[in-house]
Amino acid sequence: MITLGIETSCDETAICLLETKLHDDGSTECRIIENLIHSQADLHAKYGGVFPMMAKREHQKNLPILAEKILGTGEEKIKSGALKIDRIAVTQGPGLEPALWAGIDYAKKLGEELKIPVVGVNHMLGHVLGSLLNSSAPDNSFAKLKTPALPALALLISGGHTELVLVNNLNLGEKSSFEVVGRTKDDAVGEAFDKVARLLGLPYPGGQHVSELAEQARKDPSSPNSVRLPRPMLHSPDLDFSFSGLKTAVLYEIRKTDENATMKPEKNSADNVPGHGLSEIMKKEIAREFEDAVTEVLVKKTSKAIEKYGVQSLIAGGGVIANKNIRGALEKLAHENSISLFLPPEGVSGDNALMIALAGALLPELPEKNASGESPIKAAGNLSF
Ligand code: KG4
Ligand code: ZN
Repeated sequence: MITLGIETSCDETAICLLETKLHDDGSTECRIIENLIHSQADLHAKYGGVFPMMAKREHQKNLPILAEKILGTGEEKIKSGALKIDRIAVTQGPGLEPALWAGIDYAKKLGEELKIPVVGVNHMLGHVLGSLLNSSAPDNSFAKLKTPALPALALLISGGHTELVLVNNLNLGEKSSFEVVGRTKDDAVGEAFDKVARLLGLPYPGGQHVSELAEQARKDPSSPNSVRLPRPMLHSPDLDFSFSGLKTAVLYEIRKTDENATMKPEKNSADNVPGHGLSEIMKKEIAREFEDAVTEVLVKKTSKAIEKYGVQSLIAGGGVIANKNIRGALEKLAHENSISLFLPPEGVSGDNALMIALAGALLPELPEKNASGESPIKAAGNLSF
């Protein structure tokens, strides 16, 4: 089966063409025919975050360009039977509403033109499945999808989400397959990284920059180790998270040396860049302590969930899983619990259409219209968590 995946939930416009073989023994093989991502991050960087309406316009502009690159004279190939696309899979949510609609509208239009059914995919389900892939590179040969022992626990950490998901099985047609057992009550981990980056005067998206500073502090024997930040909800009995207070604690730490520092970007003029009065050593020190605090909370709650549900494997995904410190801590945790850890291959931790194509390919066959006359794209929205 060949699936065309489309992802536009945030500031990445992505399209992928994926061939899958579903075997009777339940195993799946995949071959990536093409996988393109166009990031708008540079455009949004000057505003310090993603502007939904601008993201929408950019998606609308870029989708036909990427589709043309992938399909070439695809329409002719499809009509002549040289290329047979069985499904179009498009991210249905969660994400920024205007950005999502750009992808959904485009998928529907393409589906109607080329007479291909369209299925809606839950973005978070995409992140779970993306971590089971072996590679994100186009390839001529098929590779088996990794098979985690079940039940599994998925830790999904991105700019918009922080969730612990219990994966009872990988049957995408069943409602009971996935259960969200923990989530953030306020900011997502990536969002907190980005806000702290802004406070330290680092560019957007800031996660990677904060992490680089943190690593430099760890390697520097003269680093003072003087900053102490809270570990929010570390000892709460549930599996939920909170990162908003941690970000505010960083602001207060910065105000010790820079009393004008503020969280509001519009209040920051050229001579009032947050973190302006901080020494480089203190910036690194704050970054290290922030990353340590985040890592400790993530590991503690994940560990609690592993124990509570007796899970057999740990799956981790989402943009923040590119973070080396968090990866290392999860590897240690999995080792201590004698379970396998599944991490996304390079290029799949951030938003991409490969994971969406894969999830779309694994969705069970959908009727053209369901009983109440809704189009399949609406019906598919009920399938996942
Ligand atoms: O999954 P993703 O590409 O988009 C969303 O669905 O949100 O995640 C993007 C997030 C951003 O907040 C970015 O700062 C963060 O992932 N990120 C990192 C790192 N690389 C990306 N956070 C911490 N450390 C990193 N190395
Ligand atoms: Zn994402």
